[in-house]
Amino acid sequence: MARILITSAIPYINGIKHLGNLVGSQLPADLFARFNRAMGHEVMFICATDEHGTPAELAAAKAGQPVAEYCAQMHQVQAEIARGFRLSFDHFGRSSSARNHRLTQAFAARLDQMGLIREVSESQVYSIDDGRFLPDRYIEGTCPNCGFTSARGDQCDNCTKQLDPTDLIDPRSTISGSTNLEVRETKHLYLMQRTLRGKLEAWIDSKKDWPILTTSIAKKWLNDGDGLQDRGITRDLHWGIPVQKGDAPWPGMEGKVFYVWFDAPIEYIAATAEWADANGLPDAAWQRWWRTDMGASDVSYYQFMGKDNVPFHTLSFPATILGSGEPWKLVDYLKSFNYLNYDGGQFSTSRGRGVFMDQALSILPSDYWRWWLLSHAPESSDAEFTWENFQASVNKDLADVLGNLVSRVTKFAKAKFGDQIPAGGDFGPQEAAVIADLGARVAEYTALMAGMEVRKAAAELRAIWVLGNEYLQGAAPWTVVKTDPERAQAMIRLGLNLIRVYAVLSAPFIPDAAQSMMTAMGTDDWTWPADMSAALRALPAGHDFAVPENLFRKITDEERAEWQQKFAGVRT
Ligand code: MF3
Ligand code: ZN
Repeated sequence: MARILITSAIPYINGIKHLGNLVGSQLPADLFARFNRAMGHEVMFICATDEHGTPAELAAAKAGQPVAEYCAQMHQVQAEIARGFRLSFDHFGRSSSARNHRLTQAFAARLDQMGLIREVSESQVYSIDDGRFLPDRYIEGTCPNCGFTSARGDQCDNCTKQLDPTDLIDPRSTISGSTNLEVRETKHLYLMQRTLRGKLEAWIDSKKDWPILTTSIAKKWLNDGDGLQDRGITRDLHWGIPVQKGDAPWPGMEGKVFYVWFDAPIEYIAATAEWADANGLPDAAWQRWWRTDMGASDVSYYQFMGKDNVPFHTLSFPATILGSGEPWKLVDYLKSFNYLNYDGGQFSTSRGRGVFMDQALSILPSDYWRWWLLSHAPESSDAEFTWENFQASVNKDLADVLGNLVSRVTKFAKAKFGDQIPAGGDFGPQEAAVIADLGARVAEYTALMAGMEVRKAAAELRAIWVLGNEYLQGAAPWTVVKTDPERAQAMIRLGLNLIRVYAVLSAPFIPDAAQSMMTAMGTDDWTWPADMSAALRALPAGHDFAVPENLFRKITDEERAEWQQKFAGVRT
């Protein structure tokens, strides 16, 4: 039994995520967690909400709520939706937790002790009316290069010139519109990542099995231009983790907080501590996942994230870990994803374009979405959600192939032979052939799942479902029963056993349907079918079974058209 630590990139607190966010981190991480549990491994699957930063503050202000209250409420909302999608986190934490405050402050103190923090004095734009420093993208003005009047403080969207906020003509705050701005001196802490460049590069080079997408992004940031830059880890904001040296004040840093990207990945660790606290366990219980001096050296750690998150997980967070010189667990395998596009364009949170997680669940059960999203995961390139494709996948793969097999076999068995698995006949050459084919495919499927080849694994699972249909089509117990009822009973005995095997294999993708299939087969035997011949004899003659409710319904053309219309723009 191996020990597998899995983290999904932690979603920002402001707002409900869309399906593109879901398939880029949480959902494939869940697939992998479920698979590893099914293999009998000890799994720790961690996620959380990412609660700090300016966007959280502004979203709270827009909602007319104090930011702490807003975050607490949105955390509940996101947790509820995660349950709806059957995301099987061992803990869904909060980056604003007391655990993360303590741990983040401890990391900063330690990095300082290691000589890796320096103070930098900067001039930054302060908005007198807003009572705050403005991050670059919250300042707008006229571009000195092209005259565009809505250029942002970091870049002009019209001529693409990189800007400094102080370059803008007639700058104004995008928060309030106020032009009552001034430049003020402020001090910040920088993590001296350049010093760690050699260590980081050696570590990345040692990861021979990482996907190209992951290593190429890391390398680009290590080597581009001047190479890896030192990074500001503090901000002049009200909401966040106060800058302290552990428990002690940090002179000169009063009123400042750590940068959200400094504390967010530390929450992976803190959330595991929150898990221990929530379960009344001692610190050793979480430390054995994270501290190599406390048992974590035999943990395999997998991270899941969208490609935009890769630099933070290959450079910034490892810089925090390596720089500390303490025995923290580093990631072993980093699985990153491209983007999912929506119906000829991009998902857009600000314009409400595309399907958001709550909306998805309000129109169809989670299995439908899980199946489509995972079987179309944007692995080797960006992928696109279209309603036509979604309808076709659900109707064919789920309803016609899997759902139809389950309903046909159970209904026929009940009608002809009653409520128990029939006893007649023996398996013959046809059964031997399908057992051999299934065995080979399941071995391949298992390997693909272990290798996090999400799309290929889905295709293999579909092929496994198809094999069962082809067997039944060829064997035709519905015809054979008229001339040789004993033979037909043997076929149906195999068919019913196949339903249990399919429940086990399909559960990581479609857990609810898998549970219905298992329940209908009157058992709770989730053993992974390593020996197909034995697996297809697990339910003996005389064992009770039931006909389940229809597993999947088809999506009609009318529904497809209606939803396409409904999710085209502006979320209400
Ligand atoms: N909230 C970030 C995003 O959605 C992800 C943070 S992942 C972390 O892009 F690990 F770094 F916290
Ligand atoms: Zn311009």
